[in-house]
Amino acid sequence: MPNPFFITTAIDYVNGSPHLGHAYEKILADAIARYHRKKGDSVFFLTGVDEHGQKVQRSAEKENLNVKHFCDIQTEKFVQLWNQLHISYDAFARTTHPSHIQYVREALQKLADKGLIYFKEHEGYYSLRQEQFVTEKDLVNGQWPEIYGEVIKTKEPNYFFKLSLFENWLKAYVHAHEEWLIPKSKRNELLGALEKPLSDLCISRPISRLSWGIPLPFDENYVTYVWFDALLNYVSFARAGSHNWWPAQLHVIGKDILIPAHTIYWPVMLQALELEQPHRFLIHGWWMNRGAKMSKSLGNYIDPIPYIQIYGADALRYYLLREMGLGQDADFTDEKIASRYASDLCNDLGNLVQRITAMIHKYRSGVIPSCSEKLMGEREKDLLNGMLLENYCLYFEKYDISMALQEVWQHMKKLNRYIDTTAPWTLAKNPKESQQLDCILFVCCACLKRYALLIDPVMPKTSDKILSLLNIGKENVPLYHAFYSLDLAGKTIQAPFPLFPRIPQQGNE
Ligand code: ME8
Ligand code: MG
Repeated sequence: MPNPFFITTAIDYVNGSPHLGHAYEKILADAIARYHRKKGDSVFFLTGVDEHGQKVQRSAEKENLNVKHFCDIQTEKFVQLWNQLHISYDAFARTTHPSHIQYVREALQKLADKGLIYFKEHEGYYSLRQEQFVTEKDLVNGQWPEIYGEVIKTKEPNYFFKLSLFENWLKAYVHAHEEWLIPKSKRNELLGALEKPLSDLCISRPISRLSWGIPLPFDENYVTYVWFDALLNYVSFARAGSHNWWPAQLHVIGKDILIPAHTIYWPVMLQALELEQPHRFLIHGWWMNRGAKMSKSLGNYIDPIPYIQIYGADALRYYLLREMGLGQDADFTDEKIASRYASDLCNDLGNLVQRITAMIHKYRSGVIPSCSEKLMGEREKDLLNGMLLENYCLYFEKYDISMALQEVWQHMKKLNRYIDTTAPWTLAKNPKESQQLDCILFVCCACLKRYALLIDPVMPKTSDKILSLLNIGKENVPLYHAFYSLDLAGKTIQAPFPLFPRIPQQGNE
Protein backbone atom coordinates (compact mmCIF):
# COMPACT_ATOMS: atom_id res chain seq x y z
CA MET A 1 0.00 0.00 0.00
CA PRO A 2 1.38 3.44 -0.89
CA ASN A 3 1.89 5.84 2.00
CA PRO A 4 -0.78 8.50 2.31
CA PHE A 5 0.47 12.07 2.06
CA PHE A 6 -2.16 14.70 2.76
CA ILE A 7 -0.68 18.16 2.35
CA THR A 8 -2.43 21.51 2.84
CA THR A 9 -1.64 25.21 2.42
CA ALA A 10 -3.09 28.18 4.25
CA ILE A 11 -6.30 29.36 2.62
CA ASP A 12 -5.85 32.94 1.43
CA TYR A 13 -8.12 35.82 2.35
CA VAL A 14 -9.94 37.02 -0.72
CA ASN A 15 -10.05 40.68 0.35
CA GLY A 16 -7.18 41.39 -2.07
CA SER A 17 -5.64 39.82 -5.14
CA PRO A 18 -3.13 37.01 -4.85
CA HIS A 19 0.45 38.22 -4.45
CA LEU A 20 3.89 36.75 -4.58
CA GLY A 21 3.81 35.60 -0.93
CA HIS A 22 0.66 33.58 -1.59
CA ALA A 23 2.15 32.23 -4.81
CA TYR A 24 5.35 31.12 -3.06
CA GLU A 25 3.45 29.11 -0.47
CA LYS A 26 1.37 27.32 -3.10
CA ILE A 27 4.47 26.60 -5.22
CA LEU A 28 6.31 25.28 -2.16
CA ALA A 29 3.45 22.94 -1.28
CA ASP A 30 3.07 21.96 -4.94
CA ALA A 31 6.72 20.98 -5.25
CA ILE A 32 6.44 18.83 -2.12
CA ALA A 33 3.21 17.24 -3.37
CA ARG A 34 4.80 16.49 -6.75
CA TYR A 35 7.89 15.03 -5.07
CA HIS A 36 5.74 12.69 -2.99
CA ARG A 37 3.77 11.62 -6.06
CA LYS A 38 7.08 10.86 -7.81
CA LYS A 39 8.17 8.82 -4.83
CA GLY A 40 5.05 6.72 -5.26
CA ASP A 41 3.07 8.02 -2.28
CA SER A 42 -0.65 8.49 -2.45
CA VAL A 43 -1.03 12.28 -2.36
CA PHE A 44 -3.96 14.55 -1.56
CA PHE A 45 -3.12 18.22 -1.95
CA LEU A 46 -5.60 20.76 -0.60
CA THR A 47 -5.51 24.52 -1.07
CA GLY A 48 -8.21 27.15 -1.22
CA VAL A 49 -9.54 30.50 -0.07
CA ASP A 50 -10.78 32.04 3.17
CA GLU A 51 -13.89 34.01 2.29
CA HIS A 52 -15.56 35.11 5.49
CA GLY A 53 -14.80 37.85 7.99
CA GLN A 54 -14.78 41.56 8.45
CA LYS A 55 -11.92 42.29 6.06
CA VAL A 56 -13.69 40.60 3.18
CA GLN A 57 -17.03 42.19 4.05
CA ARG A 58 -15.41 45.63 4.14
CA SER A 59 -13.58 45.18 0.84
CA ALA A 60 -16.81 44.15 -0.86
CA GLU A 61 -18.63 47.14 0.62
CA LYS A 62 -15.90 49.46 -0.64
CA GLU A 63 -16.46 48.15 -4.15
CA ASN A 64 -20.24 48.31 -3.75
CA LEU A 65 -20.58 44.63 -4.47
CA ASN A 66 -22.68 41.91 -2.93
CA VAL A 67 -20.21 40.00 -0.72
CA LYS A 68 -20.70 36.59 -2.29
CA HIS A 69 -20.35 38.08 -5.74
CA PHE A 70 -17.16 39.85 -4.65
CA CYS A 71 -15.82 36.53 -3.30
CA ASP A 72 -16.58 34.78 -6.58
CA ILE A 73 -14.64 37.41 -8.53
CA GLN A 74 -11.69 37.29 -6.14
CA THR A 75 -11.61 33.50 -5.90
CA GLU A 76 -11.44 33.31 -9.67
CA LYS A 77 -8.21 35.35 -9.57
CA PHE A 78 -6.61 32.82 -7.23
CA VAL A 79 -7.79 29.86 -9.29
CA GLN A 80 -6.52 31.45 -12.51
CA LEU A 81 -3.13 32.18 -11.00
CA TRP A 82 -2.76 28.66 -9.62
CA ASN A 83 -3.53 27.32 -13.09
CA GLN A 84 -0.90 29.54 -14.64
CA LEU A 85 1.62 28.37 -12.04
CA HIS A 86 0.68 24.69 -12.54
CA ILE A 87 -0.36 24.15 -8.94
CA SER A 88 -1.48 20.52 -8.96
CA TYR A 89 -4.01 20.64 -6.14
CA ASP A 90 -6.50 17.80 -5.74
CA ALA A 91 -9.15 19.82 -3.92
CA PHE A 92 -9.92 23.50 -3.56
CA ALA A 93 -11.51 24.74 -0.34
CA ARG A 94 -13.94 27.64 -0.38
CA THR A 95 -15.28 28.47 3.05
CA THR A 96 -18.59 29.58 1.52
CA HIS A 97 -19.23 26.05 0.28
CA PRO A 98 -22.44 24.64 1.80
CA SER A 99 -20.76 21.41 2.94
CA HIS A 100 -18.09 23.39 4.79
CA ILE A 101 -20.70 25.62 6.41
CA GLN A 102 -22.58 22.58 7.58
CA TYR A 103 -19.40 20.99 8.93
CA VAL A 104 -18.48 24.12 10.92
CA ARG A 105 -21.99 24.33 12.40
CA GLU A 106 -21.88 20.67 13.42
CA ALA A 107 -18.48 21.16 15.03
CA LEU A 108 -19.77 24.16 17.00
CA GLN A 109 -22.81 22.21 18.12
CA LYS A 110 -20.63 19.34 19.23
CA LEU A 111 -18.46 21.65 21.36
CA ALA A 112 -21.57 23.32 22.81
CA ASP A 113 -23.06 19.89 23.64
CA LYS A 114 -19.85 19.02 25.47
CA GLY A 115 -20.20 22.14 27.59
CA LEU A 116 -17.11 23.73 26.06
CA ILE A 117 -18.83 26.94 24.93
CA TYR A 118 -20.25 29.67 27.18
CA PHE A 119 -21.77 33.15 26.82
CA LYS A 120 -20.30 36.22 28.50
CA GLU A 121 -20.24 40.02 28.34
CA HIS A 122 -16.87 41.17 27.08
CA GLU A 123 -15.41 44.61 26.87
CA GLY A 124 -12.24 45.03 24.91
CA TYR A 125 -10.24 46.11 21.93
CA TYR A 126 -10.63 44.48 18.56
CA SER A 127 -8.11 44.46 15.72
CA LEU A 128 -9.86 44.60 12.38
CA ARG A 129 -6.81 43.54 10.43
CA GLN A 130 -6.06 40.48 12.56
CA GLU A 131 -9.74 39.75 13.23
CA GLN A 132 -9.04 39.18 16.90
CA PHE A 133 -9.46 40.76 20.32
CA VAL A 134 -6.34 42.42 21.68
CA THR A 135 -5.60 43.66 25.18
CA GLU A 136 -3.64 46.53 26.66
CA LYS A 137 -0.78 44.06 27.12
CA ASP A 138 -0.38 44.18 23.35
CA LEU A 139 0.34 47.93 23.32
CA VAL A 140 3.89 48.98 22.51
CA ASN A 141 4.81 52.41 23.90
CA GLY A 142 1.13 53.17 24.25
CA GLN A 143 0.47 52.42 20.56
CA TRP A 144 -1.09 49.45 18.81
CA PRO A 145 1.62 47.81 16.73
CA GLU A 146 1.29 48.17 12.96
CA ILE A 147 0.33 44.47 12.53
CA TYR A 148 -3.04 45.15 14.21
CA GLY A 149 -4.09 47.87 11.77
CA GLU A 150 -7.18 49.73 12.99
CA VAL A 151 -8.14 48.79 16.57
CA ILE A 152 -11.65 49.57 17.83
CA LYS A 153 -13.14 49.44 21.33
CA THR A 154 -16.14 47.19 21.67
CA LYS A 155 -18.43 46.05 24.43
CA GLU A 156 -20.56 43.12 23.54
CA PRO A 157 -21.66 39.78 24.89
CA ASN A 158 -20.09 36.88 23.00
CA TYR A 159 -19.58 33.14 22.98
CA PHE A 160 -16.31 31.71 24.26
CA PHE A 161 -14.58 28.39 23.72
CA LYS A 162 -12.96 26.94 26.87
CA LEU A 163 -9.46 26.87 25.47
CA SER A 164 -7.93 27.33 28.92
CA LEU A 165 -9.10 23.87 29.96
CA PHE A 166 -6.64 22.38 27.51
CA GLU A 167 -3.54 24.26 28.63
CA ASN A 168 -1.84 21.32 30.30
CA TRP A 169 -2.80 18.93 27.58
CA LEU A 170 -1.35 21.23 24.90
CA LYS A 171 1.92 21.76 26.76
CA ALA A 172 2.33 18.04 27.22
CA TYR A 173 1.54 17.44 23.57
CA VAL A 174 4.11 19.94 22.36
CA HIS A 175 6.73 18.55 24.74
CA ALA A 176 6.10 15.02 23.53
CA HIS A 177 6.28 15.88 19.81
CA GLU A 178 9.70 17.23 19.06
CA GLU A 179 9.36 16.96 15.31
CA TRP A 180 6.04 18.75 15.06
CA LEU A 181 7.38 22.02 13.68
CA ILE A 182 9.87 22.57 10.86
CA PRO A 183 12.17 24.47 11.18
CA LYS A 184 12.91 23.30 14.70
CA SER A 185 13.60 26.81 15.99
CA LYS A 186 9.85 27.48 15.89
CA ARG A 187 9.37 25.02 18.71
CA ASN A 188 11.07 27.30 21.22
CA GLU A 189 8.89 30.16 20.11
CA LEU A 190 5.84 28.02 20.78
CA LEU A 191 7.08 26.76 24.14
CA GLY A 192 7.76 30.39 25.07
CA ALA A 193 4.21 31.39 24.12
CA LEU A 194 2.83 28.52 26.17
CA GLU A 195 4.46 29.87 29.31
CA LYS A 196 1.72 32.50 29.51
CA PRO A 197 -1.64 31.16 30.71
CA LEU A 198 -4.10 30.44 27.91
CA SER A 199 -7.28 32.53 27.83
CA ASP A 200 -10.57 31.27 26.46
CA LEU A 201 -11.19 32.10 22.82
CA CYS A 202 -13.98 34.39 21.71
CA ILE A 203 -15.56 32.48 18.83
CA SER A 204 -18.52 34.67 17.89
CA ARG A 205 -19.21 38.06 16.32
CA PRO A 206 -22.67 39.68 16.56
CA ILE A 207 -24.31 39.98 13.14
CA SER A 208 -25.04 43.65 13.85
CA ARG A 209 -21.28 44.21 13.45
CA LEU A 210 -20.39 41.40 11.07
CA SER A 211 -22.91 39.51 8.99
CA TRP A 212 -20.48 37.80 6.61
CA GLY A 213 -19.82 34.55 8.42
CA ILE A 214 -21.27 31.22 9.39
CA PRO A 215 -24.23 31.59 11.81
CA LEU A 216 -23.82 29.80 15.14
CA PRO A 217 -26.15 26.78 15.21
CA PHE A 218 -27.34 27.70 18.71
CA ASP A 219 -27.75 31.48 18.22
CA GLU A 220 -28.46 32.93 14.80
CA ASN A 221 -27.71 36.47 16.02
CA TYR A 222 -24.04 35.60 15.86
CA VAL A 223 -21.61 34.37 13.24
CA THR A 224 -18.47 32.30 13.89
CA TYR A 225 -15.06 33.86 14.35
CA VAL A 226 -13.32 33.66 10.97
CA TRP A 227 -10.34 31.64 12.26
CA PHE A 228 -12.59 29.01 13.81
CA ASP A 229 -14.29 28.69 10.42
CA ALA A 230 -11.09 28.77 8.35
CA LEU A 231 -9.07 26.20 10.29
CA LEU A 232 -11.81 23.62 9.94
CA ASN A 233 -11.36 23.65 6.14
CA TYR A 234 -8.50 21.20 6.62
CA VAL A 235 -10.99 18.62 7.85
CA SER A 236 -14.17 19.61 6.03
CA PHE A 237 -12.42 19.35 2.63
CA ALA A 238 -10.36 16.27 3.50
CA ARG A 239 -12.92 13.95 1.96
CA ALA A 240 -12.61 12.52 -1.52
CA GLY A 241 -15.48 10.17 -2.28
CA SER A 242 -15.78 7.89 0.72
CA HIS A 243 -12.16 8.37 1.74
CA ASN A 244 -11.23 10.69 4.60
CA TRP A 245 -7.64 11.95 4.35
CA TRP A 246 -7.47 13.53 7.79
CA PRO A 247 -5.02 13.79 9.61
CA ALA A 248 -2.78 15.90 7.39
CA GLN A 249 0.81 14.73 7.05
CA LEU A 250 1.86 18.33 6.45
CA HIS A 251 0.37 21.79 6.96
CA VAL A 252 2.34 24.41 5.00
CA ILE A 253 1.85 27.90 6.49
CA GLY A 254 3.61 31.25 6.85
CA LYS A 255 5.26 32.27 10.11
CA ASP A 256 2.66 34.96 10.83
CA ILE A 257 -0.13 32.44 11.36
CA LEU A 258 1.72 29.86 13.44
CA ILE A 259 1.02 31.20 16.95
CA PRO A 260 -1.71 31.29 18.18
CA ALA A 261 -3.89 30.21 15.24
CA HIS A 262 -2.25 26.96 14.09
CA THR A 263 -0.46 25.79 17.20
CA ILE A 264 -2.83 26.88 19.96
CA TYR A 265 -6.38 27.24 18.61
CA TRP A 266 -6.15 24.47 16.04
CA PRO A 267 -4.71 21.62 18.14
CA VAL A 268 -7.13 22.43 20.95
CA MET A 269 -10.10 22.51 18.57
CA LEU A 270 -9.07 19.12 17.20
CA GLN A 271 -8.55 17.64 20.64
CA ALA A 272 -11.94 18.96 21.79
CA LEU A 273 -13.57 17.51 18.66
CA GLU A 274 -11.79 14.20 19.28
CA LEU A 275 -9.90 14.38 16.00
CA GLU A 276 -6.27 13.43 15.38
CA GLN A 277 -3.53 16.05 15.27
CA PRO A 278 -1.75 17.00 12.03
CA HIS A 279 1.62 15.23 11.80
CA ARG A 280 3.75 18.24 10.93
CA PHE A 281 3.92 21.91 10.11
CA LEU A 282 6.26 23.44 7.59
CA ILE A 283 6.61 27.12 8.44
CA HIS A 284 7.96 29.39 5.75
CA GLY A 285 9.30 32.92 5.97
CA TRP A 286 8.18 36.06 4.21
CA TRP A 287 8.90 37.52 0.85
CA MET A 288 9.92 41.08 1.44
CA ASN A 289 9.88 44.12 -0.79
CA ARG A 290 12.81 46.42 0.06
CA GLY A 291 12.97 45.07 3.59
CA ALA A 292 9.23 45.25 4.35
CA LYS A 293 6.85 42.27 4.40
CA MET A 294 4.86 42.14 1.23
CA SER A 295 1.22 42.41 2.20
CA LYS A 296 -2.20 43.48 1.05
CA SER A 297 -2.60 45.83 3.98
CA LEU A 298 0.67 47.63 3.28
CA GLY A 299 -0.08 47.76 -0.44
CA ASN A 300 3.55 46.94 -1.31
CA TYR A 301 2.88 43.52 -2.72
CA ILE A 302 4.27 42.21 -5.97
CA ASP A 303 1.99 40.71 -8.58
CA PRO A 304 3.43 37.41 -9.91
CA ILE A 305 1.71 37.66 -13.30
CA PRO A 306 4.18 40.00 -15.06
CA TYR A 307 7.03 37.68 -13.99
CA ILE A 308 5.24 34.67 -15.41
CA GLN A 309 4.86 36.61 -18.64
CA ILE A 310 8.55 37.55 -18.81
CA TYR A 311 10.24 34.40 -17.48
CA GLY A 312 7.59 31.68 -17.61
CA ALA A 313 5.97 29.84 -14.71
CA ASP A 314 8.78 27.29 -14.29
CA ALA A 315 11.47 29.96 -13.99
CA LEU A 316 9.47 31.87 -11.39
CA ARG A 317 8.89 28.65 -9.45
CA TYR A 318 12.60 27.89 -9.63
CA TYR A 319 13.63 31.35 -8.50
CA LEU A 320 11.27 31.39 -5.51
CA LEU A 321 12.21 27.92 -4.30
CA ARG A 322 15.93 28.31 -4.94
CA GLU A 323 16.26 31.76 -3.44
CA MET A 324 14.40 31.31 -0.15
CA GLY A 325 16.18 29.18 2.44
CA LEU A 326 14.10 26.95 4.70
CA GLY A 327 12.15 29.12 7.12
CA GLN A 328 14.01 32.33 6.19
CA ASP A 329 12.84 35.62 4.76
CA ALA A 330 14.02 36.77 1.35
CA ASP A 331 13.95 39.98 -0.63
CA PHE A 332 12.34 39.82 -4.04
CA THR A 333 14.12 41.97 -6.59
CA ASP A 334 14.03 42.26 -10.36
CA GLU A 335 17.82 42.04 -10.45
CA LYS A 336 17.94 38.74 -8.55
CA ILE A 337 15.34 36.97 -10.65
CA ALA A 338 17.02 38.23 -13.83
CA SER A 339 20.42 37.00 -12.69
CA ARG A 340 19.17 33.56 -11.54
CA TYR A 341 17.39 33.19 -14.86
CA ALA A 342 20.50 34.07 -16.84
CA SER A 343 23.00 32.04 -14.79
CA ASP A 344 21.18 28.97 -13.47
CA LEU A 345 18.60 28.47 -16.20
CA CYS A 346 20.03 29.86 -19.46
CA ASN A 347 23.69 29.16 -18.78
CA ASP A 348 23.77 26.05 -16.63
CA LEU A 349 20.73 23.98 -17.48
CA GLY A 350 19.73 25.48 -20.83
CA ASN A 351 23.22 25.40 -22.33
CA LEU A 352 23.90 21.91 -21.10
CA VAL A 353 20.80 20.54 -22.77
CA GLN A 354 21.54 22.48 -25.94
CA ARG A 355 25.15 21.40 -26.00
CA ILE A 356 24.50 17.71 -25.48
CA THR A 357 21.59 17.38 -27.87
CA ALA A 358 23.54 19.28 -30.53
CA MET A 359 26.47 16.84 -30.18
CA ILE A 360 24.18 13.82 -30.48
CA HIS A 361 22.87 15.25 -33.72
CA LYS A 362 26.23 16.27 -35.04
CA TYR A 363 28.24 13.17 -34.17
CA ARG A 364 25.61 10.41 -33.97
CA SER A 365 22.85 11.53 -36.35
CA GLY A 366 20.50 12.15 -33.45
CA VAL A 367 20.70 8.63 -31.96
CA ILE A 368 21.89 8.10 -28.40
CA PRO A 369 24.85 5.66 -28.49
CA SER A 370 25.44 2.85 -26.03
CA CYS A 371 28.27 2.46 -23.60
CA SER A 372 29.38 -0.70 -21.85
CA GLU A 373 30.27 -0.65 -18.15
CA LYS A 374 33.77 -1.80 -19.04
CA LEU A 375 34.50 1.39 -20.93
CA MET A 376 33.51 3.59 -18.03
CA GLY A 377 36.34 5.22 -16.19
CA GLU A 378 36.43 6.85 -12.78
CA ARG A 379 34.90 10.10 -13.97
CA GLU A 380 31.99 8.41 -15.68
CA LYS A 381 31.33 6.24 -12.65
CA ASP A 382 31.52 9.24 -10.40
CA LEU A 383 28.97 11.10 -12.53
CA LEU A 384 26.57 8.17 -12.63
CA ASN A 385 27.07 6.49 -9.27
CA GLY A 386 27.52 9.49 -7.02
CA MET A 387 25.09 10.28 -4.26
CA LEU A 388 22.99 12.68 -6.33
CA LEU A 389 19.60 11.04 -5.79
CA GLU A 390 20.29 10.15 -2.18
CA ASN A 391 21.39 13.67 -1.23
CA TYR A 392 18.57 15.25 -3.16
CA CYS A 393 16.02 13.06 -1.37
CA LEU A 394 17.56 13.78 2.03
CA TYR A 395 17.03 17.48 1.45
CA PHE A 396 13.57 17.06 0.01
CA GLU A 397 12.49 14.94 2.97
CA LYS A 398 13.52 17.85 5.18
CA TYR A 399 11.62 20.18 2.80
CA ASP A 400 14.85 22.04 2.13
CA ILE A 401 14.17 22.47 -1.55
CA SER A 402 16.75 25.16 -2.05
CA MET A 403 19.47 22.72 -0.97
CA ALA A 404 17.97 19.89 -3.05
CA LEU A 405 18.22 22.15 -6.10
CA GLN A 406 21.79 23.12 -5.22
CA GLU A 407 22.72 19.44 -5.26
CA VAL A 408 21.43 19.13 -8.83
CA TRP A 409 23.12 22.32 -9.98
CA GLN A 410 26.46 21.24 -8.53
CA HIS A 411 26.19 18.06 -10.51
CA MET A 412 25.45 20.09 -13.66
CA LYS A 413 28.61 22.09 -13.13
CA LYS A 414 30.54 18.85 -12.79
CA LEU A 415 29.05 17.54 -16.01
CA ASN A 416 29.87 20.77 -17.81
CA ARG A 417 33.50 20.48 -16.66
CA TYR A 418 33.54 16.86 -17.76
CA ILE A 419 32.46 17.84 -21.25
CA ASP A 420 35.07 20.62 -21.36
CA THR A 421 37.90 18.34 -20.31
CA THR A 422 36.98 15.29 -22.40
CA ALA A 423 36.45 17.56 -25.44
CA PRO A 424 34.12 15.35 -27.52
CA TRP A 425 34.68 17.66 -30.52
CA THR A 426 38.32 16.56 -30.63
CA LEU A 427 37.50 12.88 -30.17
CA ALA A 428 34.97 13.14 -33.01
CA LYS A 429 37.82 13.78 -35.44
CA ASN A 430 39.51 10.50 -34.64
CA PRO A 431 37.64 7.28 -35.60
CA LYS A 432 39.74 5.30 -33.08
CA GLU A 433 38.13 7.26 -30.28
CA SER A 434 34.65 6.35 -31.42
CA GLN A 435 33.82 4.09 -28.47
CA GLN A 436 35.15 6.64 -26.05
CA LEU A 437 32.95 9.30 -27.64
CA ASP A 438 29.93 6.97 -27.45
CA CYS A 439 30.55 6.60 -23.78
CA ILE A 440 30.78 10.31 -23.11
CA LEU A 441 27.63 11.05 -25.06
CA PHE A 442 25.75 8.28 -23.29
CA VAL A 443 26.80 9.55 -19.86
CA CYS A 444 25.72 13.06 -20.82
CA CYS A 445 22.26 11.89 -21.89
CA ALA A 446 21.90 9.78 -18.76
CA CYS A 447 22.64 12.85 -16.65
CA LEU A 448 20.14 14.94 -18.59
CA LYS A 449 17.43 12.38 -18.02
CA ARG A 450 18.21 12.45 -14.32
CA TYR A 451 18.14 16.23 -14.14
CA ALA A 452 14.76 16.16 -15.83
CA LEU A 453 13.47 13.76 -13.18
CA LEU A 454 14.91 15.72 -10.29
CA ILE A 455 13.72 19.15 -11.38
CA ASP A 456 10.22 17.87 -12.10
CA PRO A 457 8.69 18.87 -8.73
CA VAL A 458 9.99 22.42 -9.17
CA MET A 459 9.87 22.85 -12.96
CA PRO A 460 7.35 20.32 -14.28
CA LYS A 461 7.04 21.79 -17.78
CA THR A 462 10.80 22.04 -18.30
CA SER A 463 11.16 18.48 -17.08
CA ASP A 464 8.61 17.32 -19.65
CA LYS A 465 10.43 19.22 -22.40
CA ILE A 466 13.78 17.60 -21.61
CA LEU A 467 12.25 14.13 -21.43
CA SER A 468 10.47 14.54 -24.73
CA LEU A 469 13.63 15.95 -26.27
CA LEU A 470 15.31 12.68 -25.25
CA ASN A 471 12.30 10.75 -26.53
CA ILE A 472 11.52 9.35 -23.09
CA GLY A 473 7.81 8.92 -22.41
CA LYS A 474 6.30 9.71 -19.03
CA GLU A 475 7.28 6.69 -17.00
CA ASN A 476 4.78 5.83 -14.35
CA VAL A 477 7.36 4.31 -12.03
CA PRO A 478 8.69 5.56 -8.69
CA LEU A 479 11.52 8.08 -8.83
CA TYR A 480 14.14 5.61 -7.62
CA HIS A 481 13.37 3.23 -10.48
CA ALA A 482 13.25 5.90 -13.14
CA PHE A 483 16.48 7.41 -11.90
CA TYR A 484 18.45 4.17 -12.11
CA SER A 485 16.96 2.86 -15.32
CA LEU A 486 19.18 4.09 -18.12
CA ASP A 487 17.96 2.29 -21.23
CA LEU A 488 18.61 5.28 -23.43
CA ALA A 489 20.80 3.75 -26.11
CA GLY A 490 19.20 3.70 -29.55
CA LYS A 491 16.69 6.46 -28.86
CA THR A 492 16.36 9.08 -31.55
CA ILE A 493 16.24 12.49 -29.99
CA GLN A 494 14.54 15.64 -31.18
CA ALA A 495 16.23 18.66 -32.69
CA PRO A 496 17.62 20.96 -30.01
CA PHE A 497 15.77 24.14 -29.11
CA PRO A 498 16.47 26.70 -26.39
CA LEU A 499 14.66 25.82 -23.15
CA PHE A 500 15.10 29.29 -21.73
CA PRO A 501 15.17 32.03 -24.34
CA ARG A 502 17.47 34.93 -23.50
CA ILE A 503 15.59 37.95 -22.28
CA PRO A 504 16.78 41.29 -23.57
CA GLN A 505 17.97 43.48 -20.70
CA GLN A 506 15.46 46.16 -19.97
CA GLY A 507 17.03 49.59 -20.19
CA ASN A 508 17.10 51.85 -17.14
CA GLU A 509 14.60 54.53 -17.88
O1 ME8 B 1 -3.66 34.41 7.00
N1 ME8 B 1 5.55 36.08 2.08
O2 ME8 B 1 -4.62 34.56 4.90
P1 ME8 B 1 -3.57 35.54 4.18
C1 ME8 B 1 5.27 34.78 2.26
N2 ME8 B 1 -6.77 33.35 5.72
N3 ME8 B 1 4.06 34.32 2.62
C2 ME8 B 1 3.09 35.21 2.83
C3 ME8 B 1 3.30 36.61 2.66
C4 ME8 B 1 4.61 37.03 2.27
N4 ME8 B 1 4.93 38.28 2.08
N5 ME8 B 1 2.13 37.25 2.92
C5 ME8 B 1 1.23 36.28 3.24
C6 ME8 B 1 -4.54 34.17 6.21
N6 ME8 B 1 1.80 35.07 3.18
C7 ME8 B 1 -5.68 33.23 6.63
C8 ME8 B 1 -5.15 31.80 6.70
S1 ME8 B 1 -5.48 29.18 7.13
C9 ME8 B 1 -6.62 28.21 7.85
C10 ME8 B 1 -6.16 30.79 7.15
C11 ME8 B 1 1.19 33.79 3.52
O3 ME8 B 1 -4.15 35.75 2.83
C12 ME8 B 1 0.71 33.77 4.97
O4 ME8 B 1 1.80 33.53 5.82
O5 ME8 B 1 -3.28 36.71 5.02
C13 ME8 B 1 -0.30 32.66 4.94
O6 ME8 B 1 0.32 31.40 5.15
C14 ME8 B 1 -0.88 32.75 3.51
O7 ME8 B 1 0.03 33.57 2.75
C15 ME8 B 1 -2.26 33.38 3.48
O8 ME8 B 1 -2.24 34.66 4.07
MG1 MG C 1 -2.10 37.85 6.22
